[in-house]
Amino acid sequence: MKNEIWKENCHMYVDGFVVNGGKRLKGKARISGSKNAALPILAGTLIAKGEYILENVPELKDIRTMFKLLENLGLEIEKLDENTYKVLNKGLKSSEAKYDLVKTMRASFLVMGPILANLKNAKVSLPGGCAIGARPVNYHLKGFEALGCKIKIEHGYVEAEADELIGTGIYLDFPSVGATENIVMAAVKAKGKTVIENAAQEPEIEDLCNFLNSMGAKIEGIGTSRLEIEGVEELIPGRYRIIPDRIEAGTFIVASVLMDGDIEIEDVKMEHLESFKLKLEEMGVKFEENNGNLKIKAKLSELKPIKVKTMPYPGYPTDLQAQLMVLLSAINGVSEIKETIFENRFMHVSELNRMGANIEVDGNTAVINGKAEFSGAEVMASDLRAGASMVLAALLAQGETIINRIYHIDRGYEKLEDKLKKLGADIKREKLEVV
Ligand code: UD1
Repeated sequence: MKNEIWKENCHMYVDGFVVNGGKRLKGKARISGSKNAALPILAGTLIAKGEYILENVPELKDIRTMFKLLENLGLEIEKLDENTYKVLNKGLKSSEAKYDLVKTMRASFLVMGPILANLKNAKVSLPGGCAIGARPVNYHLKGFEALGCKIKIEHGYVEAEADELIGTGIYLDFPSVGATENIVMAAVKAKGKTVIENAAQEPEIEDLCNFLNSMGAKIEGIGTSRLEIEGVEELIPGRYRIIPDRIEAGTFIVASVLMDGDIEIEDVKMEHLESFKLKLEEMGVKFEENNGNLKIKAKLSELKPIKVKTMPYPGYPTDLQAQLMVLLSAINGVSEIKETIFENRFMHVSELNRMGANIEVDGNTAVINGKAEFSGAEVMASDLRAGASMVLAALLAQGETIINRIYHIDRGYEKLEDKLKKLGADIKREKLEVV
């Protein structure tokens, strides 16, 4: 694989981006399918036997990890065209998801609910920590337990089994995205009705529920915080198209505003980006929408600072926090971002400051002092969205920026450099020595 670490004379190399900033962006950018919708939907193909055709699946490292997991469990995957895949479920050959795959991606834990729905027993490695925080799975397990599973944690694995999954009422102490998805998938074939109160309401959960309903599941309250799932005996797979990625769209919107861009963003669902749109409008950005295509009008020098708090949907998304920070750095005035979802999601701050930003962090609050004059530097992507923020800062910066460890970015942005190059950015992928 082209972005794998390789060694030569004891030096380690990984893919990086070399960006020469300051180029005005112009043209069209098409948004890919949503990573965070595709992952649970792919996990959902474990529930029922049959042939699934999934359209608009993005080409990403995380998606390839999910494919490997599915194949290990006995599914067959065939690429039909660029973003369309056939997934064939002829029955699971195992109920175990091993550590070596689960450790590379937290969303791997989403196979647990579907395996339980299918086999009534599952053994899945605990995902462990990750750069942006501890990210436990206690809410997932609470849900499985409520559905009647006996849970055992041993040797780093969660083992769950039940004679029968039985519908029940579950209150989530926090509207966790992954827990809501996992519990919904476990409940679709349970006996009787499951009600999830304080469910997460992210559009990706709506997409998962629509996918399951297209197979015959009976889920009501889709898109609300109360999901009612009436268990059914059988699900019949078919064809389903995944929604566009709202986080990628938000990233391109920020790029357009930053670069005084004349970009038309294609295939974007602005109804999934309402809080983001309203906050940018508060700053003075204007949006023109036309049939799923979007144009952005803004003058960087005239934008106003804002205060933002990340929240569960429909609140401002944590996945667009780092990108917004670059924009707030690039305008006049003092802005504030409070991160309430993850405990350690300001790792981009020190790198952005090295590029000329003036951001101070106190606990979960970042104070952003504008206006920064970004200048190119050597930086390191510490996680997916942090990496995206560095690309944005690099587009604006004077001179050359070298972004190391972009495998984080490859987890979640399909063909990012190709899309940016098409818009006129000077960005290339190179093998860089690990620093
Ligand atoms: C999903 C998204 C991720 C996004 C996040 C929040 C996918 C594949 N990933 O992650 O991009 O940033 O939603 O919008 O869709 N928590 C617990 N116990 C649990 C579950 C979660 O304490 O059992 C905590 C987590 O540590 C975190 C917070 O709840 O602090 C939010 O996590 P959650 O909503 O579950 O996010 P993910 O599903 O992991």
